[in-house]
Amino acid sequence: MEKIGNVKAVIFDLDGVITDTSSLHTHAWRRMADEENIPFDDETADKLRGVSRRKSLETILKDAKDKYNFDKNYTQEEFNELMERKNSYYVQSLSAVTPENTLPGAKELMEFIKSRGYKIAVGSSSKNAETVVKNLKIENELDAMVNGTEITHSKPNPEVFQKTADKLGLAYEQCVVVEDAASGVKSANAGGMVSVGIGPEERFKDNHGRPNLRFDDMQSFNAKKEEIF
Ligand code: BG6
Ligand code: MG
Repeated sequence: MEKIGNVKAVIFDLDGVITDTSSLHTHAWRRMADEENIPFDDETADKLRGVSRRKSLETILKDAKDKYNFDKNYTQEEFNELMERKNSYYVQSLSAVTPENTLPGAKELMEFIKSRGYKIAVGSSSKNAETVVKNLKIENELDAMVNGTEITHSKPNPEVFQKTADKLGLAYEQCVVVEDAASGVKSANAGGMVSVGIGPEERFKDNHGRPNLRFDDMQSFNAKKEEIF
């Protein structure tokens, strides 16, 4: 816990950390996959956390081929249409996202961290992150935000969090990153930041994806806030 001592900001991932939009991403992918008869299981769904739209579809098709011998080749236009279709389902589902949809503990933790003088920010791979933040009505709480339209390299590349730190005007090692994705923890570690993983231990078993701290969920993280910040 002492690792958090010298930091000046906490950068939160959005989908799956502040709100449960990762289940909405999964539903949207599943709907598209079912329409196309593409096999799509829970293990593949979990791999998509933090991963860009394009990389997600590549992963779905690769797993379908490797695990279920699904061998359809899509043209570039068809591939793009599948991504767009998934996105339209996801965007439709965002209209139901309201301030009630922050994950238990998330809002309280953010407010506490702010009250202790740390800056708070969002670093998300999603091109829809602004809509989510607006629907949650947390945009005015944030000192900075970077979304998927501002980056060229998806997590596990550190770009998204380094850009967020740059916007905050802080050195990378002065930032803590809170992430539910193995790819996001890797991104934070590669960027020289302190990482907090949110989710089960098995998700972060890969060496490069080991977080400095880990909690099962945001509520458990929130419960320890006074010991950490
Ligand atoms: C991440 C999600 O935040 O954003 C991923 O965890 C998602 O599941 C990625 O694929 C990109 O989102 P979007 O909205 O740009 O398709
Ligand atoms: Mg996430």
